[in-house]
Amino acid sequence: MAVDVVQEIKLRTDLVELISVYVPLRRSGRTHKGLCPFHAEKTPSFHVDGERGFFRCYGCGVGGDCFTFLQQKEGLAFNEAGEMLARRLGLEWVRRGDTAEKRSERERLYDMMALAQRFFRERLKDAPVAQKYLERRGLAPETVEAFGLGYAPPGYQALLGWLKGQKIAPEEAEAADLILRGEHGLRDRFVDRLMFPIFDLEGRPVAFGGRALQADAIPKYLNSRELPIFHKGRTLYGLHVAKQEIPKSGFAVAVEGYMDVIALHQAGIVNAVASLGTAITEQHVGVLRRYSDELVFCYDGDSAGMRAATKNSSLFEAAGCNVRVARLPEGDDPDTFVQKHGADAFRSLLTQAEPLLDYQLNTLRAGYDLTDETKRLGFVREAARIVAQSSSSLTRQAYAAKLERTLEMMVDEWYPGQPDQAQRARLALNQEVRRLLRSDGGAPAGGGHPTNGRVMGRGPTTSGPRVQPPAPVRSGQGAEERYVLRAALSEDRWADRVSEQLTVAHFSDSNLVGVAAKLLSEEGDAAGSAPQRADAVKADPELAGVVSELLMDEAPLNDEGLDRCLEGLERAWKRSRKLELWRAYNAGEFLPEDPRREELRRLSAELEGRQRREA
Ligand code: UTP
Ligand code: MN
Repeated sequence: MAVDVVQEIKLRTDLVELISVYVPLRRSGRTHKGLCPFHAEKTPSFHVDGERGFFRCYGCGVGGDCFTFLQQKEGLAFNEAGEMLARRLGLEWVRRGDTAEKRSERERLYDMMALAQRFFRERLKDAPVAQKYLERRGLAPETVEAFGLGYAPPGYQALLGWLKGQKIAPEEAEAADLILRGEHGLRDRFVDRLMFPIFDLEGRPVAFGGRALQADAIPKYLNSRELPIFHKGRTLYGLHVAKQEIPKSGFAVAVEGYMDVIALHQAGIVNAVASLGTAITEQHVGVLRRYSDELVFCYDGDSAGMRAATKNSSLFEAAGCNVRVARLPEGDDPDTFVQKHGADAFRSLLTQAEPLLDYQLNTLRAGYDLTDETKRLGFVREAARIVAQSSSSLTRQAYAAKLERTLEMMVDEWYPGQPDQAQRARLALNQEVRRLLRSDGGAPAGGGHPTNGRVMGRGPTTSGPRVQPPAPVRSGQGAEERYVLRAALSEDRWADRVSEQLTVAHFSDSNLVGVAAKLLSEEGDAAGSAPQRADAVKADPELAGVVSELLMDEAPLNDEGLDRCLEGLERAWKRSRKLELWRAYNAGEFLPEDPRREELRRLSAELEGRQRREA
């Protein structure tokens, strides 16, 4: 029966209208097109086919139907997307694999949470102590209202008694982890605590965090346990509001605590979210990056905060996000900082945030007394280890080069007026860096500078979670990439074929990605003949050098060679896409109706068929 609903939803949902809520679309022939809501771009490569009910971005490769769109954009599970779509059409959604019982269990939990929130909110009105507390912490009444804050009274029987008065069975509240059953019977779980409702993406309360009013109470925050409607590993506090703002501001701010989110939102910094006192999980990453793949971590200004920021941000970096870390003064958290210094001061901290690796290296450097000769090698080792662990081979290479330059400068400071000694030290240190990078399985030091981290972050070489070894460099691919670009820059018909068959995702050579991006953009396409396209690319001063170098290469080009290279690049792209899908599959990210299943099946069949033929 659910299948029929799925079909009916697909048939009846106006995909253009649905997507238009997120991004303006305009008609282009039979379909619609606009700027991709899943990655940052300046020229539209996102297409929506309303008649057939699917969308696709030729820039970043996302695609699917109304279900996939909501799942990806809103970070919803298949069933959640189904519920939302069904509601729009006035249909009833039946969860996959759900008995009527299980469904009503979830619905009863939602109802209970909403009811409890109302109760706690009401109680706050007659709790002057709690109100004073909020006031002292600088929260305006509108903020308290907006975040639905409340108060759980003391006495262990407040909620329980109220439920009785409402003729609601205590079992309902027990199932929602609001009432406990102990030796002495039933009692409230939250007692004399400020109550922070935790909302799901649709803004429904699905859990609570209760903060003790006394400074020394343990635990400071008491949180709801995992429930069928509440998954800590997927929920981000504040995201139901921040999800509107994050795509607009182009990045999210990750903070540690409930109060941090609230204080920032109150100050007008509405793109802040927090995980719920737990480590960031890959599911959090998945949810958040639907809105942006740029993220600034701003954790407490103490060593624990710094460690957590580093750990959590590496997870995002490994997923190909662009991560920076903002530093707070020791002893501050975002809440205290913004209350003391205001929103502008906080914004300027965000602007000064350092890329993760810089942050790690600078932090490391501050922790070493480098005037002590014996400590220097320790510093070098540790620095090389950090660089070697970086998830992307491109950043690794760039940073190894950077580390070597930094070392050279430091050595000059260490040995003023002693050039021989400085030279010896430089060699020794650089050798050490290279050795460490190699032994860690990292790429050799030096060389490659990323031209554009964004484009590459989304490219097919993005390696997986950092626990895995770095993705192997696709050998020979650089040569194929060079070949097709040289062809595209020299003959019109080749330029057309390249722009028809390739996207920037087919390129991985750090020197060439920028050229490919420009050439394959609408602007490059519109430039006309091959030489004009070359000029259009050269207009970017960062790319001019590479283009000239490509054009000076006089090795022969022909149709056959181009065919071979195009095919090779397509195959390489498919292979890495397949790996990416397998990773997602293995991480349990696939849902029953996930179109990625079909894509994975297709890619596997295609690639296998070809290997057999080759063998
Ligand atoms: P913090 O101790 O930094 O809390 O913990 P905070 O948000 O700054 O709270 P205030 O300002 O003291 O009121 C960060 C987050 O860790 C979780 C909560 O989600 C908290 O917001 N946490 C902390 C718990 O779940 N339990 C605890 O006992 C403490
Ligand atoms: Mn705090």
